[in-house]
Order: sequence, then C-alpha cells, then structure tokens
Amino acid sequence: MTGIMKPRKAIFPVAGLGTRFLPATKANPKEMLPIVDKPLIQYAVEEAISAGFTDLIFVTSSSKRAIEDHFDKNFELECRLIETQKHELLSIVQNILPKGVNCAYIRQPETLGLGHAVLCARPLINGEAFAVLLADDLISTASSNCLGNMLTVFNQTQTSILAVEHIKREDSQKYGVIDTGTQDATATSNPVKITAIVEKPLPQDAPSSFGVVGRYIFTPDIFSCLEKTAQGAGGEIQLTDAIALLLKKQCVNAMIIPSKRYDCGSKLGYLEATIAFGLAHPELNSDFAALLKHYVSQL
Ligand code: UTP
Repeated sequence: MTGIMKPRKAIFPVAGLGTRFLPATKANPKEMLPIVDKPLIQYAVEEAISAGFTDLIFVTSSSKRAIEDHFDKNFELECRLIETQKHELLSIVQNILPKGVNCAYIRQPETLGLGHAVLCARPLINGEAFAVLLADDLISTASSNCLGNMLTVFNQTQTSILAVEHIKREDSQKYGVIDTGTQDATATSNPVKITAIVEKPLPQDAPSSFGVVGRYIFTPDIFSCLEKTAQGAGGEIQLTDAIALLLKKQCVNAMIIPSKRYDCGSKLGYLEATIAFGLAHPELNSDFAALLKHYVSQL
C-alpha cells in the first residue's frame, strides 16, 4: 500500500439501456429523467460533490450525449436569459457544477453490465480509491449524506464499503445480497463486515435481508477482480461477482443507508420520488399537497 488513500474520484455508470422506461429512454438517457425539475444524474452528482468528491467520471454510451450537454456551458441559453433578465434561472444553469469540480467522459462500447462499465473507467482512476454512484438510486440528502458517511468510514478503515438497505426477502432477486456471518447487521453495528455476497439470489437462498444499493467506495484492487470476472447473471459482468472476489483478498464493509432510497429505475419508485420531492419542493409543496389530496379523495 502507498500511504493513506483519500478518494476524490467518483464514477457514474450511465451506459445502461434503461429498458424499464421505454419508450421514454429510446433517445433520452434514463439518468436525465427529472424528479420535479432536476435530472436524476444531477442529484447523484450533488451528493458526490457535497461528500467531497471533485473528479466526476461518467461512463456513457452513444445515446447519452444529453448528460455531457447538461454539465457543459450552454451559451445560447445563457445569452437569452441575460437578455430577458432572468437572473435567477441564469444562476441555476451556470451553477450546476461548482468551481474546482472536473468532469470526464468515457464510453462503454457495449452494455456488458455494471461491472464492465466500472472497468471501462479504469484508465482515468490511476490506481486511486474511488466511489461509484448509480443515479437511478436516489437517496435523500435532506438529513444525511449517504456517500459522505461512507467516505468518513473509508477514511478511517481504508477498506471498500458498500451501501445496503433492509429488503423484503421476496425482493431478493432484484439485489446483490450480503452475508454478515454471525454479526447482527443493525443500525447499531454500522458498518458491518461482509463475509459473502451473492447477485440476485432466490428468496430461499438469500444469505440475509440486506440488499446492496447504488453507492460504493472501492480500493483500486476491485479492478483486477473485475478483470477476472466472467459473465454472470443475465450474461453481464456483474460488479457483485467482482466484490465476491475482492472479499477473498481484503475486508469489505457494508453500511446501512441513513435515509430513504427511491428506486428510480422502476416506474413505481420513480413516481414515489416525484411525490416525495414534489411535497418537499419550496415552490410547490402546499399546492402539490392540495392536488394530491384531491386525487386521493377520489380513490
Ligand atoms: P440497471 O440494472 O438499472 O440497467 O443498471 P439499465 O440498463 O440502466 O436499466 P433497465 O434495467 O434496462 O431498465 C444499473 C446501473 O448500471 C449502469 C446503468 O446505466 C445504471 O446506472 N449500466 C448497466 C451501465 O453503465 N452499463 C451496463 O452495461 C449496464
């Protein structure tokens, strides 16, 4: 090991096809779907920046150009907002990224899975520890920053860490599920050491009721594990399988997420997030609540 690792790079794998949202995602990236007035990817980027990450690496594909444009300057729009004196909107579009934050984009040529997408970013990581955020897992930062908490633990332990949440056993086939051995994984034993991990197990085979959600911090050793990982569930190179290999070499921790997660990769989770963020939105809250009450009264 070469001294203390202080992760500052965050990978956003955004090359998936988003088939659960077709036809909306035929030409538009799933990660650009808005929750109220902000695209999913911007929520994840804000979480990473507020946790202290400064180098953002997006693993994209040919249909994801809108993501690059979103984080780039738009001269025409800015000129028009200046002309029309819409200063508040101008400030919103000019300050999507704070100063000192850098973006890099790298392509995943084929959708060979999340593990493969992370491996595509290897040339930009330069042997450092790094975070991975899946933007379709929207985690509220209103009271606590999930990735920030994980970074605090990483800085103390210098070992990889995954975010997990309590799942219903019947939902185990949607998640990577961790085994914590004889340790009791509760909020009081947070973080907890992982003893095994399995991708999308049948409910009867699930080693626990803790499923991995889309926040990770890895030591660079994950890359050699990804290289050795063959195609797994769904014919894809699974990040979970590489984590299982990493576990044979070094300690990996899990941390229970501190706040509510919305699975915005599914339609129902997306709608739930829209309701929650709409109700919390400073411009909309009471009007939106009145609207919801009206619809609920008709159910
Ligand atoms: P998902 O499993 O949600 O797949 O990927 P998906 O393609 O985005 O959506 P569906 O299931 O077809 O509706 C989890 C994350 O991994 C990324 C996705 O962009 C998403 O952030 N991913 C997945 C890649 O970057 N590359 C891949 O080959 C697969």
